[in-house]
Amino acid sequence: MKVVLPPDRDDVKIPRRKLGFILFSGLGFLSMAALAVVKIFQNKTETKDLTKADSVESIKATILSSFNLGFQWPTQEPFLFCVHHLDHYPAGNGELGVTAQMKTGRDMGSDFQEKDGFRLYHGDDIPGFPVHPHRGFETITIVRKGYADHADSMGAAGRYGEGDVQWMTAGSGVQHSEMFPLLKTDEPNTLELFQIWINLPKKSKMVKPHFTMFWNEKIPKISLDENRVQLTLIAGQLQDVKALAPPPDSWAARPESETFIALVTMQSGSTWELPASNEVVHRTLYFFEGDQLKINDKTVGKSTGLNLNSKSPLKITSSDNQTQFLILQSKPIGEPVVQHGPFVMTTQSEIMQTFQDYRATQFGGWPWKRDDMIHGKKIERFAKYPDGKIEKPV
Ligand SMILES: [Fe+2]
Repeated sequence: MKVVLPPDRDDVKIPRRKLGFILFSGLGFLSMAALAVVKIFQNKTETKDLTKADSVESIKATILSSFNLGFQWPTQEPFLFCVHHLDHYPAGNGELGVTAQMKTGRDMGSDFQEKDGFRLYHGDDIPGFPVHPHRGFETITIVRKGYADHADSMGAAGRYGEGDVQWMTAGSGVQHSEMFPLLKTDEPNTLELFQIWINLPKKSKMVKPHFTMFWNEKIPKISLDENRVQLTLIAGQLQDVKALAPPPDSWAARPESETFIALVTMQSGSTWELPASNEVVHRTLYFFEGDQLKINDKTVGKSTGLNLNSKSPLKITSSDNQTQFLILQSKPIGEPVVQHGPFVMTTQSEIMQTFQDYRATQFGGWPWKRDDMIHGKKIERFAKYPDGKIEKPV
């Protein structure tokens, strides 16, 4: 794979391991070659203005476009990235990792092949993403199965999973590690998580970093259609139910953004109607489990993503099998997006400044004893905030 380096590349003294993350991959920046080049999106090409659509038919259309789902899923602005990790890790080796035998035949240091049903990513014995930086946007990490260990340059840490969500505002710059400890030694350690990146508006890109935990026990769950439809509300509002508050500088914290993030599970034959949005917003449905889904009068096959007309209410009917999908919805920010790997700004010069700042400050350094920081062998969820406060699920 040929890598195109930015002009100031030679001046950036980043440890080789971290450089690999920045240029190639990481939890949330896996699009390899695409991310090795600075990406510039002009808002006009990213935003579909339905009020100026080509024809009356396209305005009326419920499904604007569709695509197949792979490992990394296409997104619409302000969402920058969405990836679905499903790794069937074996029982741990007692030290939260895999045995030496399980490492054979892998591209160690950058293991994305899904050999034997799992990937080690940039981990060594313990799968995950050791220390790497971010600036200019937010990460939303939904861990449905298994656990993630978080540590960051603010001195914050946490172990979360089994339905918990972490929402982190990278803002002016943070380094963090995201590891997946294999806590169980007598049974498999399946990990399922979504990581979503949502952009920050230009005025908020340099805010102080911040992270919020949504413990599973506090995340609103909505039962519909005689309990045959279960909706987990991560952002936004449905009927009179409001999601937990996102970080204060988030685009999602503005009610007018109509940001809505939800995971939906539907049993066979059940129906759910998603109402139309108030204004035209970007609405994408990712149908990742099940055989068929019916949206209004259209039948959709499994592993399909759909960009939808948000002004059209959706009547969704599940097939004979249990179906699951994720919805990402928000009003576009409408500003240029200039991305280099884990840095997302609005101009090329801001990206160059970001490299300079990172070289100078390391975004607060790394106060932890190891790059792939993990938090012991006890299966216990917690969050430690930068002020030292420790929180546990109630
Ligand atoms: Fe990250």
